[in-house]
Amino acid sequence: MDFLDKIVLPQSANHMELLRGLLTITFIILIPYLSILTGSTIYSILYLKKKKTGKESLYFKFAKELIDMVTLNKSMAFGFGIIPLITAVFCYAQLLDKTGSYVAYHLTVSLIFLIAALLFLYTYKYAFHLKDIFRFISSDKIKESNDESIEDEFEKYSSTADRTFNKFAGWGLLFLLIADYKLINAIQLALNPQKWAPNPSFLSVWFSVPVIVNFITLLIASLAVTAIVVLYIYFRPNSNFKGNDEYLNIVKNFSLKSGLLFTLFIPIDILLNIVVVPSAALNANIFLFSLIALILILIACNFLYVMIKEGNLKYVPSTLFVFILIFAFLIVKDQFAFETASSKHFAVLENNYEQHSKNLKEKLGVISEKVSGKDIFNGRCIACHSFDHKVVGPPYNETLPQFEGKMDELVDFILNPRKINKDYPIMPNQGLKPNEARAVAEYIMSVYKENKK
Ligand code: HEC
Repeated sequence: MDFLDKIVLPQSANHMELLRGLLTITFIILIPYLSILTGSTIYSILYLKKKKTGKESLYFKFAKELIDMVTLNKSMAFGFGIIPLITAVFCYAQLLDKTGSYVAYHLTVSLIFLIAALLFLYTYKYAFHLKDIFRFISSDKIKESNDESIEDEFEKYSSTADRTFNKFAGWGLLFLLIADYKLINAIQLALNPQKWAPNPSFLSVWFSVPVIVNFITLLIASLAVTAIVVLYIYFRPNSNFKGNDEYLNIVKNFSLKSGLLFTLFIPIDILLNIVVVPSAALNANIFLFSLIALILILIACNFLYVMIKEGNLKYVPSTLFVFILIFAFLIVKDQFAFETASSKHFAVLENNYEQHSKNLKEKLGVISEKVSGKDIFNGRCIACHSFDHKVVGPPYNETLPQFEGKMDELVDFILNPRKINKDYPIMPNQGLKPNEARAVAEYIMSVYKENKK
């Protein structure tokens, strides 16, 4: 945890509000991305395995296009996955500083698994493309040659390739699910101050009921939203996806039916989620936002149902839009819960910040607190200065007249003494802070004026 402590700087209450906002925005990017990545990977693997139906090549095409959809290019993985996750680690580390909680640590584990998963999934994607080319070339060659031994050879290589290929996908999915799980783990831990103590029991943090319920919600939502996104990409007005009717029918059936099926499960999850919210995080907004999400789900289901029944696709863009709203409401709801759960701790942090900023100001000498000029004079200056006679330095009654009405110059001299009079040695720098120099300057000036009267 040491590396996380190093990125923490005490924050003012305003900054903490800002960080909370940043965290919400981060999740609004990260969670949908992870959901679609997870959903597409699962569906892609399932379609790749669907065999012996005579439609293999169509399923193969769909499995490939599903994974292509989420691995369009590498900046997508950085922009929607890795960078938001790093931002979340940073935000939680600041917001939960001094609680000893392991939230940021769980998120870091999630980050590591996400990176591993992405490496596997991108390899899976490229393997798909290679295999596609390979298939294309070899099918012609085999037909031409009419040689059975070549055909056997090809079968052998092809099945070894298949196995390796499935392994990439399998590891990718496994790591991705762990990344999802650790993310949920972190979010849920942040909602439960009772578990912030430095050493809560391992099991109670890793496998608590809220974590499991929320993880299942994420999985189901992933399957639902991926189907909706597929629906949108293939069948939005002016979509440029091509394929024959048979293929498009497979995609349409898949996305409408899986979309409806999994969306129907989300309400159960939302209700379960409300039941398992830690009491410290309960807040009226959670109910309100859950209710709005439930209504939106009803609308989405209705769109999907009508489209299945009427066999048209006129609500495709609206369905996606409603889904974006559902995600946004569910994520913001969790952030309200976090706000409630962490409100007490923010008082601690604010206090810590005040202490820190006081120390910092003292160090820089910009603090407004009163320092006594008289004490400084008696402690530092009296050894060399008197008002009316020469000690080591000249008497103030002789030197101060030139500074009358030029307080800033006097302060400046005290902070940076320069050689002035050849009859005296140079005055050593007294190492005062700006506020101290000003206090002592005001003090000697006032005494000098008093003496003059
Ligand atoms: C170690 C001895 C020493 C100490 C301590 C010391 N001074 Fe001086 N100070 C001098 C000497 C020597 C000069 C004359 C320097 C010159 O003319 O070049 C001087 C000059 C000054 C002058 C006159 C500057 C001018 O423009 O003629 C002021 C004002 C002054 N000191 C203020 C202070 C204050 C305030 C303190 C305490 C924070 C202080 N000094 C502490 C030795 C000291």
